[in-house]
Amino acid sequence: MSKPPEGQAIPEAAPAAAGTAAPGRGAEHYFSAEPVVAAQLRQRRVVLAGAERVVTVASGIFSPEGVDRGTQVLLARVPPPPDGGDALDLGCGWGPIALTLALLAPASRVWAVDVNERALEVMRRNAIALGCDGIRCGTAESVPDDVHFDVIWSNPPIRIGKPALHALLGQWLPRLRPGGRAYLVVARQLGADSLQRWLTDTFAPYAVSRLATDRGFRVLEIRRTG
Ligand SMILES: C[S@@+](CC[C@H](N)C(=O)[O-])C[C@H]1O[C@@H](n2cnc3c(N)ncnc32)[C@H](O)[C@@H]1O
Repeated sequence: MSKPPEGQAIPEAAPAAAGTAAPGRGAEHYFSAEPVVAAQLRQRRVVLAGAERVVTVASGIFSPEGVDRGTQVLLARVPPPPDGGDALDLGCGWGPIALTLALLAPASRVWAVDVNERALEVMRRNAIALGCDGIRCGTAESVPDDVHFDVIWSNPPIRIGKPALHALLGQWLPRLRPGGRAYLVVARQLGADSLQRWLTDTFAPYAVSRLATDRGFRVLEIRRTG
């Protein structure tokens, strides 16, 4: 296979989502709404849903080198998603989780949500390139209130801090349908076990368990029981 082209310019980022502030230089994070680093598109060959795919990544978004190790653990350990209904990738980045959901479950609607407008732009490109018509990308506001999820897969943004992470999970986990399941991958050293305790203490009727431990990550399962 020939090497994919690298370093194409990316169109200017769309306006930031309401309520999110772009940081000043020196305060850049992968979860910035509008990254300030110069945008460079790169193409990478990665394995998603059991086959090699060429995807686009960009500077200023999470894991531009390829599929993050925690994300690899999640994708290797989760049970196959139901094919149909609604699935959520909370914090989609360039899209390894949303793309996998859409490739494995082509009849599903896959909601790919992020605050980072550049990530969403790249996510859209990847969905088109891989023919994943079921993916809908956008900020949280783009998901209609009456949409509920059969499955949520997420490598959540731990680095936004505990209060913000708890608020984020408190916003999305109640949108699981009864019987629906969420899978979160979290590094042990970034507080996976205390997050599991908080989930257990906070959400009812939900059953929280540890599905797997692998390479320093926990995969947590949150099942809505009623
Ligand atoms: C750990 S990264 C995972 C990215 C991607 N799913 C992957 O596996 O490579 C977390 C993502 O959450 C996004 N994020 C941060 N705050 C968010 C929020 N409030 N709502 C949705 N996404 C958010 C970040 O921009 C980032 O893309």
